[in-house]
Amino acid sequence: MEFSARVGRISESTTMAVTAEAGRLKRAGVDVVALGAGEPDFPTPEHIKQAAIRAIEANFTRYTAAGGIPELREAIVAWHAREFGTDYAPSECIATVGGKHAIFNCLAALVGDGDEVILPVPYWVTFFDVINYYGGAPVRVATSESNSFALTASDIEGALTDRTKVVVVNSPNNPSGAVVNRAEFEKILALTSSRGVTLLSDECYSHFVYSAEPFSIAASAGAKPATVVTGSLSKTFAMTGWRLGYLLGSAELISNVNKLQSHATSNPNSIAQKAAVEALTGPMEPVYEMLEQYRARRAYVVAALNEIPGVSCPQPHGAFYAYPNISCAFGKGGVNCAMDFAKKLLSDEHVAVVPGEAFGTSEQVRLSYAASMQELEEGIRRIRRFIAKLT
Ligand SMILES: Cc1ncc(COP(=O)(O)O)c(C=O)c1O
Repeated sequence: MEFSARVGRISESTTMAVTAEAGRLKRAGVDVVALGAGEPDFPTPEHIKQAAIRAIEANFTRYTAAGGIPELREAIVAWHAREFGTDYAPSECIATVGGKHAIFNCLAALVGDGDEVILPVPYWVTFFDVINYYGGAPVRVATSESNSFALTASDIEGALTDRTKVVVVNSPNNPSGAVVNRAEFEKILALTSSRGVTLLSDECYSHFVYSAEPFSIAASAGAKPATVVTGSLSKTFAMTGWRLGYLLGSAELISNVNKLQSHATSNPNSIAQKAAVEALTGPMEPVYEMLEQYRARRAYVVAALNEIPGVSCPQPHGAFYAYPNISCAFGKGGVNCAMDFAKKLLSDEHVAVVPGEAFGTSEQVRLSYAASMQELEEGIRRIRRFIAKLT
């Protein structure tokens, strides 16, 4: 069978592949410390689960409108308004099958052959592949490790051309945990708006910020016409398996995405939609409780990594990832890049981390600290031993 050029341009998500390999080892009885997956280790809050149970009992088990039930679209825009001060109408919102689906569909509507999409490095792996899938050209722009990988407007400025269609900003960032502050984000917005370029703001980790208040660039003056927001309930409400995300943008964009969705997936799962309404209209305390746990784990992980001789880890200001530079290990024991490091760490010490190559850098690995303190301590102990043993 011959496959399309389109599908040939993408590869399996490295983060998913690492998770799968760690899972395989675990099933084979190996004591794996899994710090690869970007997934809250907390259960979905009880009141959200109960809403789903009620939905099943009420037989809310049929197709819904492709873009989600009106109640959910209203809940998404009301929540976003309450949390960030935006003013989207339900017609400017669509519910999707997770945040990935929002990105996939939104870029389908915006990116065509040869269109350039600016992608700050390090980037979340999916952006790169999805842009390629649509025939677009990802234009990677470097951020500075000494600035903890926080994106600045001047990083982007030189990369804008007449072919630039979209600039992707993911703050808090996966994998670096970097956060773009409001003033810098507004500079980026001013730049994209003045050039007629769409700013795609991925707010998947919006509520996991440690040293500032969460905000959405979409609430800034003049932002709405030039901005699209992709978001997700996956991390915020510990709902990764439910597959519920959203897209906020112009009614025209939403109607184009709705067309696509009506053919591709139909609606997001009906039961998950009811659970999402509960998540968005219910108490936010469970989110703040998770944030406090992540904060404590972050303090431990970053300090412990920086104590390993040769390793340096910038302070992540958001999300739940640490992105240490492990290049001190290069040239020893057959380790010459982050990919070698991650592979050997998994086979020798059974610790799963994601190599920086997945995110466009070769000297870092990503550790998720959405894991118990005990796992983190054991993981770091093994990483320290692994590096010490390399000769
Ligand atoms: C930066 C970023 N955006 C979006 C997503 C999408 O998450 P989901 O599809 O689970 O909602 C993820 C998940 O890892 C992510 O890291």
